[in-house]
Amino acid sequence: MRLATHFLAAFLAACSGGLAACGGGGADEPKEIVVGEYGSLTGTAATFGISTDNGIKMATEEQNAKGGIAGVPIRVVVEDDQSKAEEAATAVNKLLSRDRPVAILGEVSSSRTLAAAPLAQAAGVPMISPSSTSPKVTQVGDYIFRTCFIDPFQGTAIAKFAYTSKGVRKVAILKDVKNDYSVGLAQFFSETFTQMGGTVIGEEAYSEADVDFKAQLTSMIALQPEALFVPGYYTEVGLIARQARELGFTGLLLGGDGWDSSKLVEIGGEAIIGNYFTNHYSVDDPNPEVQAFIAKYQAKYGEKPDGLAALGYDSARILYQSMEAVAADPAMLAGLADRSSVPATKGARDAARKALRDQIAKTSGFKGVTGTITMDADRNPTKPAVVVEVTADGTRFVEAIAP
Ligand code: PHE
Repeated sequence: MRLATHFLAAFLAACSGGLAACGGGGADEPKEIVVGEYGSLTGTAATFGISTDNGIKMATEEQNAKGGIAGVPIRVVVEDDQSKAEEAATAVNKLLSRDRPVAILGEVSSSRTLAAAPLAQAAGVPMISPSSTSPKVTQVGDYIFRTCFIDPFQGTAIAKFAYTSKGVRKVAILKDVKNDYSVGLAQFFSETFTQMGGTVIGEEAYSEADVDFKAQLTSMIALQPEALFVPGYYTEVGLIARQARELGFTGLLLGGDGWDSSKLVEIGGEAIIGNYFTNHYSVDDPNPEVQAFIAKYQAKYGEKPDGLAALGYDSARILYQSMEAVAADPAMLAGLADRSSVPATKGARDAARKALRDQIAKTSGFKGVTGTITMDADRNPTKPAVVVEVTADGTRFVEAIAP
């Protein structure tokens, strides 16, 4: 009896990742493969995390319905970071030490991915951000990937649209200085717009969670710009649009993917309708595979998927496809599923994660909802962007911009 209790205590200590991970004699009989996910499920960017999670869930259910990875089901453990960078690092620390996932999906926001990616890199756990577009993200290290385009391209795309398609020559920029994405996108936009012959006549700053932008807007509007470029997230962008109109600004508002939320029109109302932003995909894309995804998603969640849902779906599918390739070797399958804390098995687990990293890096010609994905040497895919117009009930496709 005493012996049995001791044995159980030792067993539980070794298997703090959960009984399922260690049951049935350990590494040679894998029971499940655990993937970590972290995102903004609450807070100022809550729709980003929720949409991404919906897309990941759909891909995971589909994969498990096909038998998971070589017969082993996938379980995704989700942590909410409340739309805060500090919490993103805490969430990933928790996942790494408590759940020991084979890979991690997240975050949406570049600043939050940048806060957490060094932890995954140090642990040798592959991380795929579905939608962080700052160039700095994948520069963290060779275990960090993304499945979206990057901001030098997105900034160029929206600058060309402003200059060529809309004939805009004078722009003022209002950016979120605490947000790596916003600062970078403002810079990339300026570079292209200026090169093309346009002028950035003013630049002002705010910080995520601010609610009053009247001082900045008043000085910008005094300079008489034809358009305001606002590379921020939907909550602040919605308020900025309202306040800009209240202050009498009648020109165009332009932005990037951070506008992509069903809440944008709820917050911005009439003021935001008829303005434009760049995005990763459009619900108007006639491609039958895209339309099939939209129909499936709508049936499941009761709304049309935004770009984040599509990117979450694509990212999880790339991860699962890579796992399947690695799991063709049974020893590697055991390594993918291994979550024990016993140092003796660490070698096999690290080898499996390394093999998974190498496999994700080889992703080529993957037909995603958001376009064809091929990882380049810096773990960034090259993909087209779309420009969409904000409408009362969502967005309308305007033009596609090739890389
Ligand atoms: N690209 C943004 C960033 O890097 C995040 C984002 C992507 C937001 C797609 C909305 C839609 O911070």
